[in-house]
Formats: sequence, C-alpha cells, structure tokens
Amino acid sequence: MLLDGRIAAAAAKQLIKEETALLVGQYKITPHLAAILVGNNGASETYVASKVKNCEEVGFTSTLIRLEDTVSENELLATIQKLNSDAEINGILVQLPLPKHISEANIIEAIHPSKDVDGFHPMNVGRLVQGLDTFIPATPYGILLMLEHFKIPSKGKHTVVIGRSNIVGRPMSILMSSNIPFGNSTVTLCHSQTADLASHCLQADIVVAALGIPGFVKSTMVKEGAVIIDVGITRVIDTTTKKGYKIIGDVDFEEVSKKASAITPVPGGVGLMTIIGLLKNTLLAYKKQHLAN
Ligand SMILES: NC(=O)c1ccc[n+]([C@@H]2O[C@H](COP(=O)([O-])OP(=O)(O)OC[C@H]3O[C@@H](n4cnc5c(N)ncnc54)[C@H](OP(=O)(O)O)[C@@H]3O)[C@@H](O)[C@H]2O)c1
Repeated sequence: MLLDGRIAAAAAKQLIKEETALLVGQYKITPHLAAILVGNNGASETYVASKVKNCEEVGFTSTLIRLEDTVSENELLATIQKLNSDAEINGILVQLPLPKHISEANIIEAIHPSKDVDGFHPMNVGRLVQGLDTFIPATPYGILLMLEHFKIPSKGKHTVVIGRSNIVGRPMSILMSSNIPFGNSTVTLCHSQTADLASHCLQADIVVAALGIPGFVKSTMVKEGAVIIDVGITRVIDTTTKKGYKIIGDVDFEEVSKKASAITPVPGGVGLMTIIGLLKNTLLAYKKQHLAN
C-alpha cells in the first residue's frame, strides 16, 4: 500500500478548515501563525512558503517575518518577545536551521511554551516525555496522523527509528513507545553510532527513517511486509528538472517498496503530513488561548 501523503493531508486539511470556519464564525477571531525566516536558504524558503500557503487555505491568518542572515541573536530574541506578548498571535515558528552565530537552543527557549507550535521548547518536550498534554513536534505528529489515516496498527509491534534528532527521531521514538493510539510499540532508536544497524532494521515491523542520507535503507535491511516511513528530504542536483534539483528520501523506494506492506513516497509523503501537524498545533494553541474559559 502506498501511504500517500496527498490523500491523508487533504482529508485532515478539510477537517481543520471546517473546524476553523466554525470557530471563527462563533468567536470572530482568526487563528494566527507567525513564521520567522532568517536569511534566504532555498529549502527553508520553500518550507515556509508552503506553511504560509497552507495556513491561508484552512482559514488562518499568517504573518511572515523575514530577517537578514546578519541579524543578531538579541534582535531575533526581541522579535520573539514581541510576538510572545502580542495577543493576536497564537503560534510562533522559527524556521530552522539558523545562521551559525545564533544559538538555536536560546531561540527555541525564548518562544512562549503556549505559542510553541513546533513543540521544540524544553517544557513541551518534557511534557511529551511524561505523556502530558503538549504540542507534539510537527513531523512526528504528522507521522502518527498518517498511521491513523491508513489504519496502520502499531500496538505490540517493533518499531525501529533511525535518527535521534530533537525534531524528528527522538520525539518519534518516545511517541511510538507511549501509551497512545498508534503508539504502544516496542522501540529501538538507532543513530550514527549504532553497531550493525541492518540487523535491527531486519527485526522491525515499522521502520521510520530520519537520518538525511538519500537511499540509505536498502531492501536487504527490511523484512518482508514491514511498514516503511521515509522522513528524509535531500535535494540532489538534477538538470533534467525545471527546478534543477529533485528530492530524494532516506529509503531506496524502488527496491524497498517490493518488500514493504506499506510505504511512504518522497515527495508526497511525510512532508505533507508535517504541515498538518503544524496546522493542528496552531489551532490547538488558538483554542487554548481564546477558549480556555
Ligand atoms: N519530511 C519532513 O517533513 C521532514 C521534517 C524534518 C526533517 N526532514 C528530513 O529528515 C532527515 C533527518 O532530519 P533531522 O533534522 O532529524 O536530521 P539531523 O538533525 O541531521 O539528524 C540526523 C540523525 O541521523 C543520524 N545518522 C546520521 N548518519 C547515520 C547513519 N549512517 N546511520 C544511522 N544514523 C545516522 C544522526 O546520528 P547522530 O545523532 O549520532 O549524529 C542523527 O541522529 C533530513 O533529510 C531532513 O531533511 C524531513
């Protein structure tokens, strides 16, 4: 089965749009996401443009704040403080990566936890670890929604997550092992220091590949009938395309798809669901801020 992100994302987006219309009709306030883009990295530009476009499609307001890559950490912190105290802004995201002279950890910590729709603030990560109500980081959230949409059972299964980053691998491993719908699996978290990674993958019912090495997961590394979630997005030069590049995932789709019972394509898979995770978090932030009483 192809786990088509276009289908799952379209269905989720429709529901978000309907709920937003209802809430805006009732409360006359629109959910509002502020996105900060520092510099002009091509991939970041594309991601932010897509997030802004999707916000508009579901009826949110979005504000894109562009800053030069020479902006100081203090200036960026001041921009965040302004958004933190702006009652009209429900969610704040700072597109990563940031220029080397800015500490990503300081920036993430500066975002008020109630507006941290990327779910990267240590307080929200702590809540996630403890199974408390929080903002789930958008990509792992999108993957859970994908499993839910295609009714892929995870309870009692063995999940291997490759990659332990704060934004994908680690939160994914925590969620898949948590006592939640589409969690409850037994998780092995692999990384660059894992010995004999293939032997772990071969035991997996579900593989989540999030390492950023194109075509890393080969068919010899997966067992027959495994579910394969490819998070990887790497731009490789391709002069035959209009853009001059193509996007390659972390899985050798051609070969692995012959063995997998279900697999996500790249592009058109997890990336589209990541946007859904962000939209759902923004709507959640809005509801918590405006409808708490
Ligand atoms: N689809 C989406 O919406 C979406 C969202 C975010 C990211 N991505 C993509 O997902 C990929 C991963 O992103 P990220 O931000 O998590 O990357 P990252 O911060 O660079 O982390 C990569 C992880 O992979 C591990 N790794 C590297 N080489 C490895 C190897 N040979 N064997 C096993 N593990 C290895 C690293 O291990 P160490 O910790 O030991 O270094 C690290 O934990 C990238 O292609 C990124 O573009 C996609």
